[in-house]
Amino acid sequence: MSDQTLNLAVIGGDGTGPEVTAEAIKVLGAVASLEGFSYQTTDFDFGGERYLRTGETLPEGAVDELRTFDTIFLGAVGHPDVAPGILEKGLLLELRFQLDQYINLRPVKLYPGVETPLAGKTPEDIDFVVVRENTEDMYCGTGGFLKKNTPDEVAIQSAVYTRKGCERCIRWAFEFTRKRDNPQGKMLTLVAKTNVLTYGHDLWWRTFQDVAAEYSDVKADYNHVDACCMWMVKNPEYYDVIVTTNMFGDIITDLGGIIQGGMGVAAGGNINPDPGGVSMFEPMGGSAPKYTGQNVINPIAAISAMSMLLEHTGQPSAAARVSSAIQSVTGTKMKSQAAGKMGYGTREVGDLVCEAL
Ligand code: IPM
Ligand code: MN
Repeated sequence: MSDQTLNLAVIGGDGTGPEVTAEAIKVLGAVASLEGFSYQTTDFDFGGERYLRTGETLPEGAVDELRTFDTIFLGAVGHPDVAPGILEKGLLLELRFQLDQYINLRPVKLYPGVETPLAGKTPEDIDFVVVRENTEDMYCGTGGFLKKNTPDEVAIQSAVYTRKGCERCIRWAFEFTRKRDNPQGKMLTLVAKTNVLTYGHDLWWRTFQDVAAEYSDVKADYNHVDACCMWMVKNPEYYDVIVTTNMFGDIITDLGGIIQGGMGVAAGGNINPDPGGVSMFEPMGGSAPKYTGQNVINPIAAISAMSMLLEHTGQPSAAARVSSAIQSVTGTKMKSQAAGKMGYGTREVGDLVCEAL
């Protein structure tokens, strides 16, 4: 933080994004007064509506302005009247890339009282963290067409991996695993596909071995991504921390999201850990247009993202307080984590978390 006041940029975004964001900010307000720290928020109206009005996803100078904040909270992007890819690339990925948020931290934790589709698995079994590289891979937009719209059309979409890019992510993941200090043993699993992606994932593999040599207290483990999907369902308790590439991380964290109770619960942080880096925290779910404005969407994921934000901005005790309040609400109050089935409205769930603080 630049000074004592947490200076937060808020992008509510599209659909139900602003509704869940409001609950996360409500909880921030409550925990800030209990813990005695101050914060200030500045709203940005980026998203589908603004794009339809102005034709721009991020106006000139927006990224530089966002750089002046301690951190960013993002609700959701995605608008039914905007073609797929425009807001995703023009807003979400643009911010991840321009702010060099090279870690996408996605905890997979089954809270008490939350139903998982995995038979017989409990909160003790489902508690691991995925560290997803967030700036490279197939997300770079490198590629093109040849002979487009002809029978001879060629499409190329390349995955870009750099030594610097994978090393900084792997190193951060080892540090994170060390600090997480799992009592069952510290283990970092690299998830990749070294048997097929013999260039890019060979670079990841070699880099992983090199960095692992500096962390003798952390077991360095490896799974192919297809096997990882199987283990996440069969034996999720196997994992402590996973480090993986951007594309595989995208896919396995949706699987992670559903085993922890769904998109109403799953949260993540796009982190730039470098000094002065600006990070961005978000619920993993989308903008859920069909639920917009009905007070039925689940704000737990957004409130969890706020807890992660607090942890990251040097308020660990506030973060822990929010996290245990969430667990008390899921464990003792909410009927379900599905939109419209919670037994409470969006705002009421926010109020319950505030009361449980
Ligand atoms: C996510 C999303 C994004 C991604 C999309 C919206 C570009 O699926 O945050 O996981 O692929 O990273
Ligand atoms: Mn995704």
